[in-house]
Amino acid sequence: MKNNFLWGGAVAANQCEGGYLEGGKGLSIMDVMTAGSKEKKRVITDGINYEYYYPNHDGNKFFYQYKEDIKLFAEMGFKAFRTSIAWTRIFPNGDELEPNEEGLKFYESVFKECRKYGIEPVVTLSHYEMPLHLVKAYGSWRNRKLVNFFENYCHAVFHRFKDLVKYWITFNEINAIEFMPYMPGGLIFEEGENRKQTIYQAVHHQLLASAKAVKLAHKINPDMKVGGMALFGLNYPMTCHPEDVLKAEKKNNHFLAITDVQVRGYYPNTLIAHLKDEKIKLETKAEDEQTLKEGKVDFLSFSYYMTLVEGVEREGENIAKGNMVAGFANPYLEANEWGWQIDPIGLRTSLNYLYNRYQIPLFIVENGLGAADTLEECNIVNDDYRIDYMRDHIREMKNAVEDDGVDLLGYTAWGCIDLVSAGTGEMKKRYGLIYVDKDDEGNGSYARYKKKSFHWYKKVIESNGEDLQ
Ligand code: BG6
Repeated sequence: MKNNFLWGGAVAANQCEGGYLEGGKGLSIMDVMTAGSKEKKRVITDGINYEYYYPNHDGNKFFYQYKEDIKLFAEMGFKAFRTSIAWTRIFPNGDELEPNEEGLKFYESVFKECRKYGIEPVVTLSHYEMPLHLVKAYGSWRNRKLVNFFENYCHAVFHRFKDLVKYWITFNEINAIEFMPYMPGGLIFEEGENRKQTIYQAVHHQLLASAKAVKLAHKINPDMKVGGMALFGLNYPMTCHPEDVLKAEKKNNHFLAITDVQVRGYYPNTLIAHLKDEKIKLETKAEDEQTLKEGKVDFLSFSYYMTLVEGVEREGENIAKGNMVAGFANPYLEANEWGWQIDPIGLRTSLNYLYNRYQIPLFIVENGLGAADTLEECNIVNDDYRIDYMRDHIREMKNAVEDDGVDLLGYTAWGCIDLVSAGTGEMKKRYGLIYVDKDDEGNGSYARYKKKSFHWYKKVIESNGEDLQ
């Protein structure tokens, strides 16, 4: 691997910080999401109702412990730390004109702490945590005004952190909005509303906001690199039947259509065809085309957890439904406790697929295993299963880079310190290399303990990926 390969870990502000009202912070959309589980969906409440437990209110208390946590990351040898800025710490309601100094100070201190250890901060501007006020007062991203509010926010943080942060990511998993409209888009639908129409209108606004952010960043500091971020895992055809192959390919194209706009600067034919098919008519302005063209991203980051299987249901064929995001189960793969199918070779194939398609540097900013770890005597977690998972994925990542020539900036392990799960709100779905003593109800000392994987990952980084044993 290149000497400057960015090995590290990743978190999101809302899932780890806690201190949800500290330092003038406003409420974000995640502050009104209750805890859930594998079986029980998280509920979005109308404001805060203290009969419920809201796991993001405490996170893992990174807000209070970031110095100790970053020190642990440095001990592991991290070269990069991906986190996000909670928009609501900078603009509590989202529509103020002036930023909140206390919020800026907090992140300044976090990024300086990273720099102290030579850790490169990789910062997501919007990771499932927009101001709740923008949802209530403006209807969230369905409203074009959000583009200006976001630009204002970018202006404040780009200016303040122009010498501290080089790598920025605009929207986390921008393409997840279609099947998860609330977290990535803050969308709550009205009775009878044409949901698809609203989703794509919101996407159009996010794409404009992303493009404007890229342009602004380059203007403020030409060295800053701004990336897109997609949820990705290839869709395999169920069989070599041409119908299955076509369906899988269409699904891949659909999955990447929004990213296509970010990378290429215009709507791809597949997305135009889809909008036509769904009779979606976007409200646009004449200057939008130019905005998109001028705001192409510098790199593409993505999260990788699984691959999917697509096919046409034909009579007589036994097809099992399986994975979370939809699609069919792959009989050749095992799944984790939450049903996510584990596919290390799929990471190599996905890296090749994305690089062939876009020819810009890629960045794996999320990958990891969610598992219910046990803290054993002497505060040890023997997470050999996580080591196996990471070893297999890192090996395939190296194959993609060293054998196939994919240009990859780095790898940041998701949830490098245990945090609240986005999907279920659980704490017990742990990804960390560092254990946090907190349970699903918020009880615990919040003490940190190094897992076995902590020591293993340290060796991996030290050897620049050569020692995976
Ligand atoms: C990604 C998100 O989709 O998956 C993260 O960007 C999230 O925020 C991660 O935590 C894992 O999902 P979950 O539901 O296991 O937390």
